[in-house]
Amino acid sequence: MGAALSLHRIDDLPEIAALSRQTFGDEALTPKELRRLYTRAHALVLALRRGPALLGYTVLELNRRQRRIYVVETCTQPHARGGGLAAHLRACVVELAHQLGYRTIASHTRLSNQPAQRLNLRAGMTLIGQIDDYYEDGEAALYFKRSLSGS
Ligand SMILES: CC(C)(COP(=O)(O)OP(=O)(O)OC[C@H]1O[C@@H](n2cnc3c(N)ncnc32)[C@H](O)[C@@H]1OP(=O)(O)O)[C@@H](O)C(=O)NCCC(=O)NCCS
Repeated sequence: MGAALSLHRIDDLPEIAALSRQTFGDEALTPKELRRLYTRAHALVLALRRGPALLGYTVLELNRRQRRIYVVETCTQPHARGGGLAAHLRACVVELAHQLGYRTIASHTRLSNQPAQRLNLRAGMTLIGQIDDYYEDGEAALYFKRSLSGS
């Protein structure tokens, strides 16, 4: 794979926000939202790089009280997709959750986003249900969860 994991600090966020913007357009996490997640919601950004080049990232919101990690956003650069990078990042999230004592990992995906749904299923998550009218444009979300207790 040849990609190394890095943990982002708040100073690195503009680069993440730029890739988010390129990928998600108007729904991207803005630098301001990322900063709020970092300062208010105990967020972490795990990234994979080849040398200095950013290949992909995942934004995590850590809820200590609920012992839950919420996967806010995951992205692999278009040219690097299909090589297992997102799956590798998810494995790192599971390892992190185990190390820090979190009990669940959860995420939503758009109903139309099949690559994201397959990623969640490959990462051991279970489809819990559908929430209609979840996104601003009215699209439904699928809610996925993985329980780590006893796993
Ligand atoms: C969803 C997304 C993050 C997946 O990233 P990725 O790095 O391509 O994911 P992976 O490489 O782990 O898996 C993608 C596919 O490649 C396959 N794959 C992984 N490693 C492989 C390898 N070594 N050889 C061949 N195929 C491989 C996987 O089986 C998977 O196939 P499938 O989706 O058809 O089942 C990416 O498509 C993306 O950034 N999409 C846009 C943003 C988005 O929608 N994010 C999710 C919502 S927040």
